[in-house]
Amino acid sequence: MQFEPGDQRRRLPRHLREPAPEPDSFVYTIRTAQPRDLPDIRAIYNHYVTNSVVTFDEKNSTHRSWREKFAMLSRLGLPFLVAVTPSNQVIGYALVQPWASKSAFRYTAENSIYLGPGAGGKGLGTALLDALITACEQVRLREIVAVISDSGAEASLHLHRKAGFREVGRMGGVGFKFGRSLGTVYLQKSLTPVPRRRSTRR
Ligand SMILES: CC(C)(COP(=O)(O)OP(=O)(O)OC[C@H]1O[C@@H](n2cnc3c(N)ncnc32)[C@H](O)[C@@H]1OP(=O)(O)O)[C@@H](O)C(=O)NCCC(=O)NCCS
Repeated sequence: MQFEPGDQRRRLPRHLREPAPEPDSFVYTIRTAQPRDLPDIRAIYNHYVTNSVVTFDEKNSTHRSWREKFAMLSRLGLPFLVAVTPSNQVIGYALVQPWASKSAFRYTAENSIYLGPGAGGKGLGTALLDALITACEQVRLREIVAVISDSGAEASLHLHRKAGFREVGRMGGVGFKFGRSLGTVYLQKSLTPVPRRRSTRR
């Protein structure tokens, strides 16, 4: 039997056919986090707890702590975003939490951004941080602060500077993890809160 090139996919036995083209493997959507995302988010964060000094946590976070954080951010109306694959797997997240508990700090938040293994270095961090900044402006926050480890967090420092954060200070030796002293770098970005809509009602 003879096959024309164009007939191959239709007639050749499956094991002799050319492989189908790979689907674009880095397709994602950025959306608001939902409770069902929390196990993936916890796994991403705990990877950095166990393997890096980009977070100063030393014990893996619990499901309960993530449920409580999600509830607290929802109650306060603070942005919590995820990047998900078409099959809804979380490959990265970004959130803000209150910078400090005293009420006069209410327009200032601290951000956090973490990508899953294999998701870094492809522009996702930039896209997530940009989306987070926009979401913060929509809820009328005025300042974001990033507290970044002074060791092993070069990508994060670069990412934040590129997004318009400026360094406002450093503290040395305030952390101790994996048997070594660690410092913190503080970066801050002033936002342009979206003005409240003027009511058309009289
Ligand atoms: C920080 C992080 C979110 C960045 O996300 P990312 O998708 O890798 O970032 P992007 O691909 O959008 O790249 C952002 C910029 O950082 C640069 N960059 C990436 N890795 C870098 C590295 N190791 N050193 C220096 N710059 C780096 C990129 O070149 C890019 O700059 P450019 O646009 O000028 O070329 C990601 O690396 C991550 O999850 N890191 C571990 C967790 C972490 O440190 N979180 C922050 C805690 S505060």
